[in-house]
Amino acid sequence: MRHFQLYNPVRVLFGVNQIANIGRYIPSGVKVLVTYGGGSIKQNGVYDQVRDALKGFEWTEFGGIEPNPKYETLMKAVEIVRRDNIGFLLAVGGGSVMDGTKFIAAAACFEGEDPYTICTEGAEVKKAVPLGCVATLPATGSEMNAGAVISRLSTQEKFAFHSPLVFPRFSVLDPTVTLSLPPRQRANGVVDAFIHVTEQYLTYPADAKVQDRFAEGLLLTLIEEGANYVNKPDDIDTASNVVWAATMALNGLIAAGVPEDWATHQIGHEITALEGLDHAQTLALVWPGLHKVMRASKREKLLQFAERVWNLREDGEDKRIDEAIARTEAFFRSLGVGTRIADYPQMSAGFIDVIVERFRKRGTRLGERAEIDADTVRRILEDRK
Ligand code: NZQ
Ligand code: ZN
Repeated sequence: MRHFQLYNPVRVLFGVNQIANIGRYIPSGVKVLVTYGGGSIKQNGVYDQVRDALKGFEWTEFGGIEPNPKYETLMKAVEIVRRDNIGFLLAVGGGSVMDGTKFIAAAACFEGEDPYTICTEGAEVKKAVPLGCVATLPATGSEMNAGAVISRLSTQEKFAFHSPLVFPRFSVLDPTVTLSLPPRQRANGVVDAFIHVTEQYLTYPADAKVQDRFAEGLLLTLIEEGANYVNKPDDIDTASNVVWAATMALNGLIAAGVPEDWATHQIGHEITALEGLDHAQTLALVWPGLHKVMRASKREKLLQFAERVWNLREDGEDKRIDEAIARTEAFFRSLGVGTRIADYPQMSAGFIDVIVERFRKRGTRLGERAEIDADTVRRILEDRK
């Protein structure tokens, strides 16, 4: 195991009716800005719960943060934060609202000219408005991490930033607020969380037994509960397990001391930026190709994954790896998430060329060994035809 530092200051308020308790953790005497998305919270009662919990606070709201939150939209909220001297941000929504709010928090205090350089050039976040979250969609883990992924319409870019200053002060995880989620978002959430785990697990061995077993436990939970979660939306026990698995999948714990990949995500972000696919759809599309193309490099962990997650012990090693990749792809498909280019007929014909050229120009090398270059990205995407 490598050396590591683990820092996670997020207070988790898990369970039914926990929204009612947020007032205890919001500083008194500051103006609060509640941020949200396209309006789901106004239909499922979450907005009303937040309004009740904020009695006694001075607050205002900013809605309209879209999926894959856009810089252009978020900068409108930044204006409000600066103009109204907002002292606390409360994100009420899925990963897009939580991520968007982290960006608002950092951009409102940014002193340089273009706050998007926080994402593109790693410009330093020196200060941020404190924030809290009411997470309504288990998927991204944003509720318990310090990352955010922000898209820019004008340049068709999608890049992440990380700063300990945008860790939420608290996050409410009330599984009952997920009851109103449509099947597509449920399936997306399971796939996203699953692939967060594999990005931190399917690399090369680091003799990190706790992290490996923990990762396998999360994968097994998502496999066991995935279908129920998508098909039986009122099963609150299943929802509770999926909510907690998604949060634990990307809060730093399983990444401690181990190599990390993230190539599936980085390729996926380009596909969303150019073609508008949902985040999890891009991941399900890239994942099988990436693990086929990188199988030699990931061989030992793929064998461990085959044995411990898919219970494959009998056949020869190559066959076990083939089968583990095939079963994983079948799992994504069984939830209703497409894994081949043909599943997304809206995609433009030349998208592979554009993505490969983007990576070539940037000179990016992806993966746990930085061995995925632009040509490898082409092989991965060509596999999905
Ligand atoms: O906007 P509203 O009306 O709220 O509707 C949303 C949206 O249309 C809806 N929704 C959310 N909660 C609901 C609900 N509908 C009914 N009932 C509820 N309880 O779901 C739709 C999708 O929401 P969104 O927030 O976009 O989904 P998700 O949570 O999957 O977030 C995706 C974004 O997170 C980023 C992705 O790149 C993408 O931009 N990620 C963030 C990460 C992080 N911060 O660590 C890591 C991830 O890998 C990911 O990249
Ligand atoms: Zn993700």
